[in-house]
Amino acid sequence: MLNVEKLRGDFPVLKDNPQLSYLDSAASALKPNCVIEAVNDYYAKLGVNVHRGVYKLSYLATDAYEEARNKIANFINADFDEIVFTRGASASLNLVALSYGLTNLKEGDEVITTELEHHSSCMPWINVCAKTKAKLIYVPLNEEGRITIENFKSVLTKNTKLVAITYVSNVMGYITPIEEIIKLAHSVGAVVSVDAAQAVPHMKVDVKKLDCDFLAFSGHKICGPTGIGVLYGKAKLLADMPPIEFGGDMADDVNLHEMTFKDAPYRFETGTPIIAGAIGLAKAIEYVEAIGLDEIAKYEYFLKEKALAELKKIPNVVIYNATAETGIITFNIKNVHPHDAASVFDNNDVCLRAGHHCAQLIIKWLKTVGTVRASFYFYNTVEDVEKFVKSVKEAQEFFSSL
Ligand code: ALA
Repeated sequence: MLNVEKLRGDFPVLKDNPQLSYLDSAASALKPNCVIEAVNDYYAKLGVNVHRGVYKLSYLATDAYEEARNKIANFINADFDEIVFTRGASASLNLVALSYGLTNLKEGDEVITTELEHHSSCMPWINVCAKTKAKLIYVPLNEEGRITIENFKSVLTKNTKLVAITYVSNVMGYITPIEEIIKLAHSVGAVVSVDAAQAVPHMKVDVKKLDCDFLAFSGHKICGPTGIGVLYGKAKLLADMPPIEFGGDMADDVNLHEMTFKDAPYRFETGTPIIAGAIGLAKAIEYVEAIGLDEIAKYEYFLKEKALAELKKIPNVVIYNATAETGIITFNIKNVHPHDAASVFDNNDVCLRAGHHCAQLIIKWLKTVGTVRASFYFYNTVEDVEKFVKSVKEAQEFFSSL
């Protein structure tokens, strides 16, 4: 088991708000001191631009920025030049769609996605398919709302050119059988773009083992700064992709009517990059790796199961994802709008998310207007679980008495 009390001491928000039960890490994880200090150190000790300055301070900033890229590449077992810094998983997935998708798709081609996708993973393809006239096809979900191999096979054809798929659903917490899906997609020559925003903070992800073509995640969900994200792309794919933004630092040769660009990843990092964000993210990854991703996954599952066992005993609670393998519980109190329920949690200093979670397709599939979602991370405690369960009971009793 983790030394949770010690770890909690690393988080100033938890120190300043000891009464808080933060159960919204799927939206954003809290930030430890070491990440705050790394960001602060860049601004305090360097604070200058990268790649451009012909002076020592700029060389140091460039080293720190590129060392962050190296660290992140090692973390997911990618090569250095396969890591593109973006402003988040959404920007990463949009980059795949607008660059790779618009360039390579045409009428008659098929793109497969799922109703479990976050808007960032399906909307870019709704847009690109409308523009290119490629057909967008959804994997039918099974009765639990899961993506199965069987159902994936039922929509895979020789026309499938791209699969845009989540690794872990932000609403249901299900883990997609991603390795097998990637193998199947490759067997028909399709490229796979994986939304790993909810996977990378919670489990070991190895892009070479997965053999995915693209993989996106955000910094802020793994205790890093907001405003920084990563797109992993296989080098041979990135090499042929056009930039989608033009400007500083990505140009090679610019003439009156034509221009050339730097190689990937730099051609995709237009303008002054997110230097402090990249440095902070590398520090966050160091921090999380030192705790151990296997330990984190086990612990958050333990907390989730503990909460779930109690939740099942409360009348009028509808649990949508009882079999989830990760630390996410999605539920409603019968006949209570999730936002109304959330106000009771807030009164009790239990922070969680209510609504459609930027994933309206699965909310519609569940035939509801939204859900309440609790998500656990390594800094949560058994006391958080108890407070959460008590709040569910209180909300249920309060609304049933009206
Ligand atoms: N995508 C984040 C969530 O699931 C914001 O809450």
